[in-house]
Amino acid sequence: MAQLDAALAKIDANLDTALKRLFALVAIPSVSTDPAYAAACQKAAEWLRSELAGLGFEATVRSTPGRPMVVAHAKAGRPGAPHVLFYGHYDVQPPDPLDLWQTPPFEPRLAEAPTGTQIVGRGTSDDKGQLMTFVEACRALRETGPLPCDITILFEGEEESGSRSLPAFLAENKAELHADIALICDTGMLDRTTPAITTMLRGIVTEEIVIKGADRDLHSGVFGGAAVNPIHVLARIIADLHDADGRVTLPGFYDGVAELPAEIAEQWRHAGFDGEQFLNDVGLSVPAGEKGRSVLEMLWSRPTCDVNGIVGGYTGKGFKTVLPAQAGAKISFRLVGTQDPQKISASFRTFVEARLPADCRAEFHAHGGSEAQQLPLESPALACARAALREEWGKEAVLIGCGGSLPIVGAFKRDLGMDSLMIGFGLEDDRIHSPNEKYELSSFHKGARSWVRVLMALGAA
Ligand code: BES
Ligand code: MN
Ligand code: MN
Repeated sequence: MAQLDAALAKIDANLDTALKRLFALVAIPSVSTDPAYAAACQKAAEWLRSELAGLGFEATVRSTPGRPMVVAHAKAGRPGAPHVLFYGHYDVQPPDPLDLWQTPPFEPRLAEAPTGTQIVGRGTSDDKGQLMTFVEACRALRETGPLPCDITILFEGEEESGSRSLPAFLAENKAELHADIALICDTGMLDRTTPAITTMLRGIVTEEIVIKGADRDLHSGVFGGAAVNPIHVLARIIADLHDADGRVTLPGFYDGVAELPAEIAEQWRHAGFDGEQFLNDVGLSVPAGEKGRSVLEMLWSRPTCDVNGIVGGYTGKGFKTVLPAQAGAKISFRLVGTQDPQKISASFRTFVEARLPADCRAEFHAHGGSEAQQLPLESPALACARAALREEWGKEAVLIGCGGSLPIVGAFKRDLGMDSLMIGFGLEDDRIHSPNEKYELSSFHKGARSWVRVLMALGAA
């Protein structure tokens, strides 16, 4: 007990310096998807390595064909302690559109809001602020005694761009990375005062298609009517992907999608989530998904298809009467249950091919994917974490689903046989991936305190 209280007191006392460290990390523009920021990614990885080395971790930066990984190890104060692997990602989404930021994305600052103090900047919530809650917890434990668990840390730098280097890296470092359980801080709370553990995580399939027609762009008066228009072909294919009830029409798409277990459905009904408010907060009012499903089901337990981008023809200022040679779209599917990413990708490609008129062809590019995940509810680590979170927040942690995807969770299960305990302190209004991303100061502070408690509880189990 003495160390627990001392470590919690350290977190409180060190909050200002902890914030300075987080600001230093956020100031490094580690965007992974754009090669222009590769040096910044390297810098962020090295910054983290040096932080962890300063805490007594044996810490290394490992190069990959893409952005580097950070791997670090520290031993518990006693032999036989449980071994945890903590995962986070130091890469961030591009800050665009820049003109919508109230202050520059990589100049972090504190802002006062009616609900409390916020930390503003790209990556504050996804995922730099979250991963630093764990680092600060390790610091506080280190400063007050031995670590309660053997701890391995893995920080990835390509999470936001499809985790391309990850499978090979895990395969090559299996033994080094294996632990009893993975801990991940890259998800959210139910609301600002209710902690949550994510036990259901949606998977994802990403498909980019380009439809090609004539061998060049054409004058739409000279050729229009006679020449096939790839934008029309693409639009028709996209429109065909959903039926009038909002269901996805790909053959076999719902294979492996089960109804929610009654116990979970019951928990979600009482979770106090207001679907109408959730939509109102972003200027919407009517749920646009499958008919007859609640908003929470649409987000957490039903699969979806969304077009994430579409290009073709003339999109500059003014007008140009062009009949384009090609049109493209980036389309993602969110998966649940045991839906098979490979089958869905194949079904999609067949679906597109079947709808191509004469003279058109399609090119496909995959950008990575992963299957949905479910944490076994009987996991002992889950019980430990629930008790620890209850202590910190003064109320029961809710078991929630997550609409987003973390390909690593599938890889940990598949390649390392490890379950992942997903505890995060993000909020729905954090604007992750959007301009003016923020993380609540209370998330950062109580998040670090929560990890101290979770690690102590796991170490005592
Ligand atoms: N941290 C998010 C996932 C997430 C989103 C968790 C919302 C909780 C709430 C993660 O960084 C992310 O953005 N994942 C991508 C994965 C994709 C690029 C393969 C996603 O979900 O779109
Ligand atoms: Mn993330
Ligand atoms: Mn993200």
